[in-house]
Amino acid sequence: MSLTATIEFQGKKYEFPVTEGTEGEMGIDIKTLRGASGLVTLDPGYKNTGSCESAITFLDGEKGILRYRGYSIEELAEHADFLEVAYLLIFGELPNKEQLEKFDADIKAESHVDEEMKKILDGFPKSAHPMGVLSSLTSALIAFNPSAVDVSSEEKMYTSIVRILAKFPVLVAWAMRKKMGLPLDYGDDSLGYVENIHKMMFKRPNQEYKRNPLVIEALDKLLILHADHEQNCSTSTVRIVGSSHAGLFASLSAGISALWGPLHGGANQAVLEMLEAIQEDGGDTKKYMAKAKDKNDPFRLMGFGHRVYKNFDPRARIIKKSADEVLGDLGIDDPILDIAKGLEKEALEDKYFVDRKLYPNVDFYSGIIYRALGIPVEMFTVMFALGRLPGWIAQWREMRLKKEPIGRPRQIYTGENHRSFKKINER
Ligand code: CMC
Repeated sequence: MSLTATIEFQGKKYEFPVTEGTEGEMGIDIKTLRGASGLVTLDPGYKNTGSCESAITFLDGEKGILRYRGYSIEELAEHADFLEVAYLLIFGELPNKEQLEKFDADIKAESHVDEEMKKILDGFPKSAHPMGVLSSLTSALIAFNPSAVDVSSEEKMYTSIVRILAKFPVLVAWAMRKKMGLPLDYGDDSLGYVENIHKMMFKRPNQEYKRNPLVIEALDKLLILHADHEQNCSTSTVRIVGSSHAGLFASLSAGISALWGPLHGGANQAVLEMLEAIQEDGGDTKKYMAKAKDKNDPFRLMGFGHRVYKNFDPRARIIKKSADEVLGDLGIDDPILDIAKGLEKEALEDKYFVDRKLYPNVDFYSGIIYRALGIPVEMFTVMFALGRLPGWIAQWREMRLKKEPIGRPRQIYTGENHRSFKKINER
């Protein structure tokens, strides 16, 4: 039996179909609402608006569930590697051995970035934030790969996808090396995807690169945990930019900018800066708890709260465990971790945080691991972008294959009514 919902307005009833997802979520399909009734819906921040039907990621914020293509994040973090997860997200199924080898080889074949790109990077001051650099370089790649905008065939789309998966890590590494004053380098095709990224970031010009499987494993897990999160701010940005038929790289560049903000991916940098500030201020976590609750103080406890998770963030649980393991394995005793644990304990017992269902999110602990891995604070959000890349690609591809219409919300106008123009001497 097909379900419907009825809206009654000024004595008239309008009926709309209800769409049901595979996990029982239901949405009123209001595509015909304005045409039939003249009404639009109003939902700033899209708290109740489904922008699309998607088969990529399932998230239940109440139960703390996150699945990519049906597989739980816990299982993927435990058993899969990042490249397998990227393939899964983008193409819908886990790759078999041949498919994974081909995917890997196709990516490696595209891992060269035009030398001219270095001149663009050169133009940035060393103080530039790497997220701005990354967004600009991703956009600049279009000029060197014009065919990347051609989405008329699956094959061409595939080429664009492997191309960006190959070149993006080089840009990430360059953004970091520029900041650290290190020469720009290319990868090593004999290494796995994540290890290659690590080598590109950290290899010193006059030292042998030392392989540390613990570090690579931790990095791989972090990237998997960040790989997709359904219709968040940056993903919605990628989809909406792509919906105008702007190319993949342009859409990704916009997504990077959206991720940069401290309420989204920028929170991991903000968390660490906050923890450092608390430490410098004598480690008084109670003082910062009080600031976070004070409505006259703009301070928020960074790394707490989530638009969708109102119970716990499953990624935060995995990362917290991983942070303990990584610091233990690397023999690091970081007082910042103690401050983080203290804050978490206090917040979880505090009425303000409990009432508002504010729990630690993915960014609360990820920064501590990045720090332990020697990644500079300003690169934290770049690491998030690196992880999120397959998710953005998968969502963009799904949107294009479904031939979704251009994203163009309506509004309720609240400005002046018509008035006559006044010449400058009459104002
Ligand atoms: N510290 C103190 N109060 C908070 C916090 C916080 N971190 N987060 C939410 N609140 C309060 C907020 O003031 C509001 O209180 P009241 O009802 O009294 O006005 C209530 O909780 C609801 O907050 P909201 O801002 O309406 O919730 P939202 O769904 O619009 O925002 C959020 C979600 C993640 C932007 C927000 O919780 C926040 O700013 N957190 C800190 C930044 C952060 O950690 N962001 C990373 C998100 S996870 C990574 C990602 O996916 O990007």
